[in-house]
This record gives sequence, structure tokens and C-alpha cells, in this order.
Amino acid sequence: MESAEIRRRFLNFFAERGHTVVPSASLLLNDPTLLFVNAGMVPFKPYFLGEAVPPYKRATSVQKVVRTLDIEEVGKTTRHASFFQMCGNFSFGDYFKEGAIPFAWDLLTTSTHEGGYGFPEDKLWVTVYEDDDEAAGMWQELVGLPADRIQRRGMVDNFWSMGVPGPCGPCSEIYYDRGPDYGREGGPVADEDRYLEVWNLVFMQSIRGEGPGKEGFPILGDLPNKNIDTGLGLERMAAILQGVDNIYEIDTTRGILDRAAELSGTAYGTAEGSDVALRVVADHARTCAFLIGDGVIPGNEGRGYVLRRITRRVISKMRELGAHEPTMGELIDTAIAQMAPQYPELNDQHVRIRQVAVGEESAFLQTLRTGSAIFDTAVASVRTNGGSTLSGEQAFALHDTYGFPIDLTLELAAE
Ligand code: GLY
Repeated sequence: MESAEIRRRFLNFFAERGHTVVPSASLLLNDPTLLFVNAGMVPFKPYFLGEAVPPYKRATSVQKVVRTLDIEEVGKTTRHASFFQMCGNFSFGDYFKEGAIPFAWDLLTTSTHEGGYGFPEDKLWVTVYEDDDEAAGMWQELVGLPADRIQRRGMVDNFWSMGVPGPCGPCSEIYYDRGPDYGREGGPVADEDRYLEVWNLVFMQSIRGEGPGKEGFPILGDLPNKNIDTGLGLERMAAILQGVDNIYEIDTTRGILDRAAELSGTAYGTAEGSDVALRVVADHARTCAFLIGDGVIPGNEGRGYVLRRITRRVISKMRELGAHEPTMGELIDTAIAQMAPQYPELNDQHVRIRQVAVGEESAFLQTLRTGSAIFDTAVASVRTNGGSTLSGEQAFALHDTYGFPIDLTLELAAE
């Protein structure tokens, strides 16, 4: 099933059940706690907190999301992306667990010719928060899931927040069993490669304070209402429904990956190292197009720095793969061609997006030409002296004098 069809079915399913279809918000919402929208619920945060009155009780959206915390993992695992699309259904003080659980189950298990995703019921498992007997009971009573496919997990896995102070709550995650070829038996608690998370239902009912990690924060109190916030990753769903191993090989992303292979002269599927690089390019080129499209300009801090870092990673990987000429313009063209059917604003902004990306590429290629020579000299002098570590002083000089980015120095030094 194509990504566009997965998206269409999600929105239709919830629209038919009284949800208002809300278009994706910009990645740059005015929220001082976030650089970018990092979840489908972010545009609705004021409604959860009771700071604004929602114009609807039920909503559904497919929201553009950027998450850069795990950027080093992109391409190495089957499922890390810096840009992805989050399908969600939301209830603002309307239905709660008793509505969200059967909705998700129905959409997943309804056959494909009847408008669903066609998952076999016996391949689905769920997890619930450790003391959430209510959700565990509903999975059995409302949809008939056997008790031995419901597992309990603690705060780290089954309590969701935006990672910053704000609305939060226990969650229940739905997993698809890909079978014994992918790992050992025992449900999601045993193996999250075999049991792939497809949908997270958050029972949004509390407010969290400051604190590190996924459990080191206080719960400050209750939200004015009990709400629902769910997240189904479109790319992950596409990987399953298209029968490919990872999110970089789905219809929309694969087109960019193939273009990167063509432009660099390195075929996909020949070596793990170059496959990782091609997957990084496919993911990051798309992120660049969307970030620039939403108004980010490369810079040395904040959002601009994230864009600069991502663009530079694309350029470095393309060089590593064998591209000797600039490629950013072509990659952006392909990313836009893949995504514009769902996001027509990319077409309106095409010329500007391309110009910004190509401008950043030529500046960086110049920096690389000067910086690489200095880097090589520094490495040679370390080696001559019998060492294996580039000093902080040398790394700083590369950055300060030649504009050579520290993350690139770290990557090259590690190599
Ligand atoms: N807000 C739910 C999720 O992103 O998983």
C-alpha cells in the first residue's frame, strides 16, 4: 500500500468517526520549549493544557515532525529518521481509553479491501503502563485480545511526554509480530526488532515538570480533562505494508535513495558502509527540503545550526560515496518530487528551497577544501609523534580559523 494511501485511509477512518481533519502545522511552531514540532500533538498542546478552547472535540492529522536527538542512529537502524510523518487522532475531553482502543484496533485489523490496514489479529501485541489495569481490561473486553499478548512496562517505555514540561500520560503501544526470522519470541518486552511498535495511544491526563530522561521528572498534577493523543508513524507503517525491511526503502524515501546512488555512482546493497551513507542522504535530504520550506535558513545556532548540520552531513556522505560534483540541487528536486503530492507548498517554494540548499553546499565545499588539507596535516603530525588522538587545540583551530565543523572533525578523526 502506497504511503499516500496509508495517509488517506487514516484520515478518512477518523473523519468518518466525527474527527475534524486538521492540516499539518509548520515544523516551526512558536513553542519556547521546542526547536521543532516533535510530535503530532504539539499543535494541540494549548487544548490539552486548557489554555485555549478547542474548536472541535475530536481531531485527526498527519503532522510533519523533526527529531534530531538520535541523528547519529539514522541509517544504521531500520527505523530512525530525522523527518517523519505522524498520523494521530485526538480527543479533547471527549472519548478516552474506551474509544481510542477500539478505534485503533478496527483500523489496523479491518481488511484492506474494506478500507483498513489488514493486520492479522493474531500478530498484534500490546503493552500498557504497569498499573493500568483499566487499559489492560479494555484490550481484552472491548476487542478480545488474549491476556497473554498484553504486557506491562514501566515509565521509560509506557509513559509519554514531549520530553519537556507539559502534558503527559500513561500510554499503550501496539506492536506487530514480524515473525521468528526477525528475533526471539516473548513479545515486545523480549525483542523490539521482531515486535515492531506501530501505534502509540497516549492517555493524556497529567502535567509533568522539569527533569531528565523518561522518568526523572515530577508529575505536577492533572490536566483539566482526560484526553487522547495517538501517534502512528506513517513511514513505519509503510515499511510493514510494503514488505520492506526499513523505513528508508519505502516508496517515497526510496526514490531519493536511488537518486543518491545514481548521482554518486555507488549502488545500494553492495556494502553496509555505503548503504548506511545512502540511507542517511535519503533521510536528511528530505529533512532539508522541509526545514527550508518552513523558513529555516542555515546558521550557526538554534534551528539554523540543525539545518546546517543536516545539510553538511548529506554533502559529506555524498562525497564519501564518490560524488565529485555538487548534488544538493538534484537531491532536493527528487525529495520535493516525492513529497509534493502530499505537501503542495513544497512546489510553491521549490526555487527558494533549492537556492538555499545549493548555496549552503557551495559554501561548505569551499570550507571542506581548505579544512580537509589542514585536517590531514594535523593527523599526519599526530601520527609522526606516535599518537592517535587529535588534540582539543587542533580541533578548535580547525573550527575557529577554518570554519571546519567540530562534528565533522569528530567523524573524520574517528574514521
Ligand atoms: N504523541 C504520541 C507519540 O508521539 O507517540
